[in-house]
Formats: sequence, C-alpha cells, structure tokens
Amino acid sequence: MPLERVAKGEDRIMFLRNTESNYGAVTIVIHWLMALLIIGLFALGLYMTGLDYYHPWYKKGPDLHRSLGVLMLLMLLLRLLWRSLNPIPRPLGRDPAWMHRVAAAVHGALYLLLLAIAVSGYLISTADGRGIPVFDLFILPAMLPPVEQMADRAGLVHQWLAYILIGLVALHALAALKHHFIDHDATLMRMLGRPAAMDGRFDIDTNTSKEMT
Ligand code: HEM
Repeated sequence: MPLERVAKGEDRIMFLRNTESNYGAVTIVIHWLMALLIIGLFALGLYMTGLDYYHPWYKKGPDLHRSLGVLMLLMLLLRLLWRSLNPIPRPLGRDPAWMHRVAAAVHGALYLLLLAIAVSGYLISTADGRGIPVFDLFILPAMLPPVEQMADRAGLVHQWLAYILIGLVALHALAALKHHFIDHDATLMRMLGRPAAMDGRFDIDTNTSKEMT
C-alpha cells in the first residue's frame, strides 16, 4: 500500500481516537449527545410525573422516558468501552493536583450515577414482571421475579439519584466554564473539537494564543 494512503488512514484513526492531550471525535460526539439526552430525560421525568390520568402524555411520556433511558444505558456502555480503549487526555490549566483529583472523582461519580439511575429505572419498569418496549423495536425482558414494593423503593432511589446527578452536572458545567472564562485554558474547547496545543493553550487560532501570552 502506498505510504500516503497509510498516513491518511492513520490520520483518520487519530481523529477518532483520544490522544494524551486531546479528545477524539467519538468521545466528543458521545459526550454531547449524552448530555442532551440526560437533560431531556430529566426534564421529561419531571414533566410526566406531574400529569393527570387524562392528559394525552400520561402514557406516552413514561413510554418515551423508558425508551430513551435504555438508549442512554446503551450509549453509556459504549462510552465506557471506548474510554477503556483510549488514553484519557491529561488535565489542562494551572489547578493544583487536588482539584484534578476532585474533577476525576466527579467524572467517576457521573458514570456511577448514570449506571445506578439506569438500573433503578429498569427495576421500576420491570417490577410487575413485564419487559420494556424500546421504541417499538424490541423488548428488553424483565430478568428478576416480581418483588413486593420494588417499584416504590426503586422509584425513590431513581428520583433522588437523578437530583444528585443534575446537581453534579451543574457543578461539572460550571467548572468547564471557569476553565474557559477565568483560567483561559483549552479544557472546554477541546471537548468542543478544537485541539489544545501541548502546553494546554489553544492551538491553531493565533489571536487566542496572543491573548493568553
Ligand atoms: C448531562 C450532562 C453531562 C455529563 C453526564 C457529563 C459527563 C462528563 C464526563 C463523565 C466527562 C469525563 C470524560 C472522560 O474522561 O471520561 C466529561 C468531560 C467533560 N465535560 Fe461533561 N458532562 C455533561 C455535560 C457537560 C456540559 C454542559 C459541559 C460544559 C458546559 C461539559 C463539559 C465537559 C468538558 C470540558 C469535559 C472535559 C474535561 C477535561 O478535559 O478534563 N460537560 N463530562
């Protein structure tokens, strides 16, 4: 194979994969799709639990919430698999080491909460022994025998974990905005697809680099 073609193929792989200093396209796309999905799921969850029996969305809302919840779980599993196969870009900025550890702990907590929210949602929906229809495409079967009061208990866990998740997401987003607007480093921009230079400053755009020197 000509060397040029080999180089092009490698470029494409580097574009998809994370490196030591930047997120690749796969991580970036999954991060933002999941962010939208999670905010949508939370808003729908709040909305649908306030509806009365005769509202047209009384049944439609929970059906959609369950299907989107299963989609979120599938994306989460894909994301964790991809993460295990890629380097994690090192933190940028001049924060002390303990702040990097807090940020990493928040990322870990977000993954754990998402998993726990998906499992508790599954337990609510399958408590009566019935599976979950996902977008009329397939049915995710109930795998546990019905347990008394399982729906209520799992429901309480699901609700409170969702509140904690949204609190942590707000903290996480504020930290990203602090990096951008106060520290002027490339933490947010590299998650938006603009590569950071080796020193953690913006790459490519010379105006921004000038601003920071
Ligand atoms: C539901 C919403 C969100 C969830 C669940 C979430 C979750 C995560 C997780 C788990 C990571 C770590 C990636 C990894 O290395 O595995 C991450 C990274 C990141 N997120 Fe989010 N995120 C959300 C929304 C947001 C929002 C709204 C912003 C910006 C305003 C944001 C900005 C970032 C940035 C900049 C990084 C990279 C951090 C770094 O380089 O150290 N995220 N996100």
